[in-house]
Amino acid sequence: MEEVKKKVMVSGIQPSGDLHLGNYLGAIKNWGARAEEFDCYYFMADMHTITVRQTPADLRRRTLEQLAQYIACGLDPEKNTLFIQSHVPAHAELGWVLNCYTMFGELSRMTQFKDKSAKHADNINGGLFTYPSLMAADILLYQPDLVPVGNDQKQHVELTRNIAQRFNHFHGDVFKLPEPYIPATGARVMSLNAPESKMSKSMPDGCVFLLEKPEDIQRKFKRAITDSDTEHCVRYDVEQKPGVSNLMSIYSAVTGKSYAEIEAEFDGCGYGKFKPAVGEAVIETLRPIREEATRILNDKAYLEGVYKAGAEKAAYTANKTLRKVYKKVGFVAR
Ligand code: TYM
Repeated sequence: MEEVKKKVMVSGIQPSGDLHLGNYLGAIKNWGARAEEFDCYYFMADMHTITVRQTPADLRRRTLEQLAQYIACGLDPEKNTLFIQSHVPAHAELGWVLNCYTMFGELSRMTQFKDKSAKHADNINGGLFTYPSLMAADILLYQPDLVPVGNDQKQHVELTRNIAQRFNHFHGDVFKLPEPYIPATGARVMSLNAPESKMSKSMPDGCVFLLEKPEDIQRKFKRAITDSDTEHCVRYDVEQKPGVSNLMSIYSAVTGKSYAEIEAEFDGCGYGKFKPAVGEAVIETLRPIREEATRILNDKAYLEGVYKAGAEKAAYTANKTLRKVYKKVGFVAR
């Protein structure tokens, strides 16, 4: 019987800091859920990370910690291809080709470029600017159907589609056009102490890290900014009550409860009961992940086996696409 080809998903995270609740709810949680249905490729985007200066030893450590956390979050290496981006040279190779199919104006409009060049004004390097062409290569090499990401990466996936369309226009149907796959809740987790900004490792006080101690997590939730209005009730209203709404969306994402159910559960309770309840639900969600990640991290030989096998499998698929691209653009076969 002919084997039915599975659909493909691909995504990555930069090991630029410790993984946080935004990465988990916006991306990783959504990855594991569909491993049976899809052929899945997930990587540590270390090449993207050096667009901002890093301490080399920290980058190496975080890359392996990230792999341990991927596995601890439920990404079984037998069912998902887990690898380190720099171990598959096809990413850099296709990245260069796609640079030549990406327009200066398109790159100038990218929000992440604008944000990061404002934050790192002393180091606005070429890599930071052409980052989206490398991200397009990360994606298009695997001919995926879906790219599971949080809201902030939607613009990059849309640009990836434009680049693919432009390439296909010149060279015939080489790339499949992927869709962003964004979760219904948790797509944009905001900072606990500044709910107008997205949760990010650059603002650690408002950020909950996956490996953080339960007491530290609870302290952050108890201190979370709620709202300046006098209503003091748990009600979903992003405009008027951004802090409470953010806590509600976190609670909803970890418990599966709807906003109406949450409003009913905390009706008349005020924030004093609500905030620690959200903290507790997050702690219980993260507890098994932290325990499992710590266990896996102690087994360096196992981790090495996972990323080596992952790179080999990823390279096999990636090189097929790269060969096609090289032929189309007119490079002499190796
Ligand atoms: P990065 O490393 O900033 O974030 C990784 C993933 O986490 C999601 N995310 C969030 N989701 C909800 N709320 C938040 N506060 C939050 N913060 C981060 C991001 O949307 C993302 O899905 N360019 C990418 C990495 C990358 C990539 C790729 C992704 C490189 N190549 C190819 C997909 C496919 C980035 O900087 O994500």
